[in-house]
Amino acid sequence: MKGQARNFFTLAVLYFLFGIAVGLYMAISGNHGQRVSHAHIMLAGWVTSALFAFFYHLYPAIGAGAIARVHFWLHAASSVVMLVSLLLLYGGNPAFEPGAAGGSLVFGASVLLFAFVALPAIWKE
Ligand code: HEM
Ligand code: HEM
Repeated sequence: MKGQARNFFTLAVLYFLFGIAVGLYMAISGNHGQRVSHAHIMLAGWVTSALFAFFYHLYPAIGAGAIARVHFWLHAASSVVMLVSLLLLYGGNPAFEPGAAGGSLVFGASVLLFAFVALPAIWKE
């Protein structure tokens, strides 16, 4: 893997480790209060980032471009803010709600950017 494919896959693996740690914490403590954070770290973090990695691996010319770089940094920054805020929010700190909301909105914008890059690429072939 090269370019943004490698960046996305690196981020995905970090989320995998993070999500597993939260899952194990819940399973061992018997406190499932972080279920929603764990679900999003696993699916919006690990699975989504890994799918982005495979997309850019299949389309290396796009993965080497400027839009893919912007997509990676928007996704990385927004997902870190969203997922860490969710963890703190479900840990009992309502002050982190704006972080979760702001992160989610930028996360949504990064998905729009991905749609803008990915759909023309697959329909051009
Ligand atoms: C060591 C591995 C894992 C442990 C110990 C673990 C633990 C847990 C626990 C304790 C719950 C809460 C269950 C409940 O209260 O209903 C949960 C829910 C969940 N886990 Fe994991 N998990 C692990 C791996 C994964 C992986 C690899 C994924 C996905 C890639 C995943 C996705 C989810 C999802 C989506 C939910 C929410 C399910 C729902 O909405 O009911 N987990 N997990
Ligand atoms: C902007 C991004 C997102 C927002 C604002 C969002 C919002 C939400 C909300 C409000 C819930 C209900 C939580 C509750 O039960 O209290 C939820 C649940 C869930 N979301 Fe998301 N979500 C986002 C992205 C995603 C993505 C990308 C995935 C999967 C790839 C996903 C998978 C899930 C799952 C599996 C649940 C059920 C979790 C559970 O109750 O155990 N979400 N989401």
